[in-house]
Amino acid sequence: MRNLEILKEEDKEVLDVARISVDQEGKQGKKKLYIESYGCQMNFSDSEIVTSILQENGFATTSQYEEADVILLNTCAIRDNAEQKVRNRLKNFIPIKKKKPETVVGVLGCMAERLKTKFLEEEKIVDIVAGPDSYRDLPNLVDEAEDGQKAINVFLSRDETYADISPVRLNSNGVTAFVSIMRGCDNMCSFCVVPFTRGRERSRDPYSILKECQDLLDNGYKEVTLLGQNVDSYKWTSEDASEKVNFAQLLERVALINPELRVRFSTSHPKDITDEVLYTMGKYENICNYIHLPAQSGNSAVLKRMNRTYDREWYINRIDAIHRILGYDCGISQDMIAGFCSETEEEHQDTLSLMEYVKYDYGYMFAYSERPGTPAAKKYVDDISAEVKQRRLSEIIALQMKHSLERNEMAVGQVHKVLLEGFSKRSEDFLHGRNDQNKMVIIPRGNHKKGEYVQVLITGCTSATLKGEVVAG
Ligand code: SAH
Ligand code: SF4
Ligand code: F3S
Repeated sequence: MRNLEILKEEDKEVLDVARISVDQEGKQGKKKLYIESYGCQMNFSDSEIVTSILQENGFATTSQYEEADVILLNTCAIRDNAEQKVRNRLKNFIPIKKKKPETVVGVLGCMAERLKTKFLEEEKIVDIVAGPDSYRDLPNLVDEAEDGQKAINVFLSRDETYADISPVRLNSNGVTAFVSIMRGCDNMCSFCVVPFTRGRERSRDPYSILKECQDLLDNGYKEVTLLGQNVDSYKWTSEDASEKVNFAQLLERVALINPELRVRFSTSHPKDITDEVLYTMGKYENICNYIHLPAQSGNSAVLKRMNRTYDREWYINRIDAIHRILGYDCGISQDMIAGFCSETEEEHQDTLSLMEYVKYDYGYMFAYSERPGTPAAKKYVDDISAEVKQRRLSEIIALQMKHSLERNEMAVGQVHKVLLEGFSKRSEDFLHGRNDQNKMVIIPRGNHKKGEYVQVLITGCTSATLKGEVVAG
């Protein structure tokens, strides 16, 4: 059975593929852009920036790649199969190129940054390769490609945050939006390609973040998710050094915009999440009681090999702090990697026992995939067989499903505040939304509509969703 909430690697990436859902009609004669995103929320957020930049330069958008003048894929390099998916997708565009050779095909994002000119050599169909910090240059790169040249910009910046660019909301439900607060990552977890594909960590000016959130509220949005690879290390200093803002302070400022605007954030790094952040979460009702706190492993020796810079005891200390400050019902989710280099059966058991300790609400679980050039690829041998990785992964997923069900059952009989996001996937007779803990809640449609907050009595659940009835609008 395919469980949509406990996502396996392939599922996650399939679900993560998004296309522009709304055709934004341009004036006649305007060139048309088609953009597709893979990978994490940062990439989706970046595609909104890319669309904004190209719209400013006279492009209209289309949801049909067959009618596009420029086709862009915003790619992910996190695991090998994420890259294979992009290579397969590129094959779909070969007939288009045959029919309309002037069509420009570009690859953006992390895979573009990782492969650089190799991408142009390996995938003949590609005209543009643009890394995550080069999007302001896209209009020029498109011009070059239209002149028949191959165009590439993979320069990584120390200060680009696209702070002044108003993202064009793609696939928007008009209720929830992502707001990027920082870029890059300085952590160098040994398995991870992100520091190489997204460069050094930098934080965005808080005033531009607050303005973007206010604009979203003014346009009817009710929820923002502050995005970064490691939001807890957000730090910004004004030019004259008179003002410093850390993540807890930024969170507070965003929460103060309006109590009707819900605030979420992702991702928290266990080494950086402070009690100050937890107290700020507790202080404001509109900051959601939910933390995505990737563990990667429950064993200290594996965590050391992964260069996560915390051990099992530290991680448990952070979980205890969450329970102490925010209560046992704070939603917590994990990322786990099964079968990292030299992981023994005992070390794997420690991951399961950490899961038993925390009882996560939700999880993203992956088999280790060696990424060329990363510290782990250089230092360690990828010596766990595919079968063993898969078996361990299945055990982790099965345990997570059990815990998700247990945690969801705790909600039955309670009344939860839910922000409605739209029709349920299965039927327009139902609406779906999320509660404070980020759990999906399905209700009969009644007279309700998306964008409303409703109080819902939870009457049933699966491991993936809660079901309920509105008791107050
Ligand atoms: N910045 C986030 C993670 C971003 S990548 C953090 O530090 O928590 C998302 C997830 O992909 C990671 O948490 C990890 O579980 C997984 N991942 C990253 N590199 C991987 C690899 N080489 N193989 C398998 N999974 C990987
Ligand atoms: Fe990768 Fe680690 Fe940075 Fe997360 S914190 S993006 S896992 S290097
Ligand atoms: Fe993938 Fe890059 Fe995000 S590698 S997970 S798109 S930061």
